[in-house]
Amino acid sequence: MKKLLSLLLVTVLLLSAGSALAASKVGVVMPTNSLQRWNQDGANMKEQLEKAGYEVDLQYANNDVATQVSQIENMILGGAEVLVVASIDGSALGTVLAQAAENNIKIIAYDRLLTDTPHVDYYATFDNYKVGTIQGLFIEEKLDLKNAEGPFNFELFAGSPDDNNARYFHGGAWDILKPYYESGKIVVKSGQTEFEKIAILGWETKDAQARMDNLLTGYADGTKLDAVLSPNDSLALGITNSLIAAGYTLDDFPLVTGQDCDVANTQNIIKGYQAMSVFKDTRTLAAQVVTMVDAILKGEEVPVNDTETYDNGVKVVPSFLCDPVFADINNYKELLIDSGYYTEDQLKVD
Ligand code: BGC
Repeated sequence: MKKLLSLLLVTVLLLSAGSALAASKVGVVMPTNSLQRWNQDGANMKEQLEKAGYEVDLQYANNDVATQVSQIENMILGGAEVLVVASIDGSALGTVLAQAAENNIKIIAYDRLLTDTPHVDYYATFDNYKVGTIQGLFIEEKLDLKNAEGPFNFELFAGSPDDNNARYFHGGAWDILKPYYESGKIVVKSGQTEFEKIAILGWETKDAQARMDNLLTGYADGTKLDAVLSPNDSLALGITNSLIAAGYTLDDFPLVTGQDCDVANTQNIIKGYQAMSVFKDTRTLAAQVVTMVDAILKGEEVPVNDTETYDNGVKVVPSFLCDPVFADINNYKELLIDSGYYTEDQLKVD
């Protein structure tokens, strides 16, 4: 009887301790909700972290660095134990990350690396170089660059220079295409091939559109484009708008690449105005980050699969790289609809 009573007492004590234990807090900061992908990333992560029993503070910063800094400050004050940070400018958060580290908060860089700081513990992303490789290989295959004589007219775009990913995307694609440019099979009429010249700050659709407008205005001799290398969907949208406004039709539309499989871009793939996109299933990345957060908070080994690639200027950040895949008119249904990422209705075109 005595034994039973003490067992009961222990159980009651344990139960009350358990209910008094607040759930660990995880802060998640995303760059902006103006782009579809980040909304999906945020929503997926919040849902999965909450399912795992964590309290989540999810914030979007409207692409404004100062806003992101103050959101992180608030999370530190609010008692977050882990921060998941998808930065706007990867090198601009050093001070606030140092503050977080002083408070023993672990930091995971999400999708974009946090650079020039020792205060980043892990990095979870898709293989960014591979994203570019997929785009380059797609163009190589569709134009049959290995065998065709050419020359083919190209223009190139790159992503935001403050986003560490942008150079990886560009490097991956250009490593495939550059030999053809050097041999003269690819012609870039504007002469603009350097990253600095082709980069679009903030990944802005309207700025990509304006640059494409300018390039096309320069084509006084009626040069027709065969392909435009776009690193992502927000730029692809601007490029496509510009090409349509300049009179390109489905009969002569250049190959335009992309990344993210945003709804509007997938619809353009269906209509024929975009050749491909790179699918980065945000559900996979979110699930990976949840696993990492869980391991950190339980003091277990955090799973990583790359300990060499991502040098942030201060250290090599242990990373987990998910696999990106290409999507085009032939496989989008299987990838995006059958997998439940989108409904058929969402992708309906008129
Ligand atoms: C992401 C891309 C996205 C781009 C613009 C990059 O860091 O990896 O998926 O298209 O930012 O938001």
